[in-house]
Amino acid sequence: MGTPHINAKDGAFAKTVLMPGDPKRAEWIAKTFLTDVEKVTDVRNIWGFTGYYNGKKISVMASGMGHPSIGIYSHELFTGYGVETIIRIGTCGSYQPNIKLFDVIVAIGSSTDSNWSAQFNLLGGTYSAIGDFDLAVKARDEARNKKIPVHVGQILSADVFYDDNPDAWKKWARLGVLGVEMESYALYTTAAKLGKKALCLLTVSDSFTDHSRIATVEERQLGLAQMVKVALEIAE
Ligand code: HPA
Repeated sequence: MGTPHINAKDGAFAKTVLMPGDPKRAEWIAKTFLTDVEKVTDVRNIWGFTGYYNGKKISVMASGMGHPSIGIYSHELFTGYGVETIIRIGTCGSYQPNIKLFDVIVAIGSSTDSNWSAQFNLLGGTYSAIGDFDLAVKARDEARNKKIPVHVGQILSADVFYDDNPDAWKKWARLGVLGVEMESYALYTTAAKLGKKALCLLTVSDSFTDHSRIATVEERQLGLAQMVKVALEIAE
């Protein structure tokens, strides 16, 4: 019972876990959208909650930021708690001018500049990390039903937020990469390695092509809420 970084009881998690980066967001999601909510883990204040959405048992747990953090929590949820699916619900920076603040991105592919992937160097090639196809289609369709602008494609899962080279993003943008966050590669690869499912949904919180507008806290919350509703609907 328990793993090095999660102190929940056996059976405390649902088969599907929604995973924002921030523990306060996890708490807000659980208290706003779920009923009969129980806090199930609190190691390092990386909180996890389990409750019900329209009768479906669902958990929400924070991932922290970056590949090492989500790599640890996703591994322990999959191997220690029988979790089958993790849906990351995060924010990203947009690399493309047609992808606006609060649009949603369904990340079917994840490229990385992270050394986290070096553990797979023995492959002798580059592993392409992908999200679960059926979940991605469901998320795209659900977002369209809700009239949320949605884009499907590849993102960059980066290790650096404050890049020393201010133009580094442009080489990825030229390859059609839609935007940047910092967790999807480790999540997708961990899921693949363990025979589990994962998807990353992102709401755009900033734009590399348009610096004219920065999202307010309230706007971020609204953007997050519409994406959470998509994730809750597609959760199995
Ligand atoms: N870079 C990396 N991760 C992010 C960003 C960004 O600009 N915005 C939200 N998550």
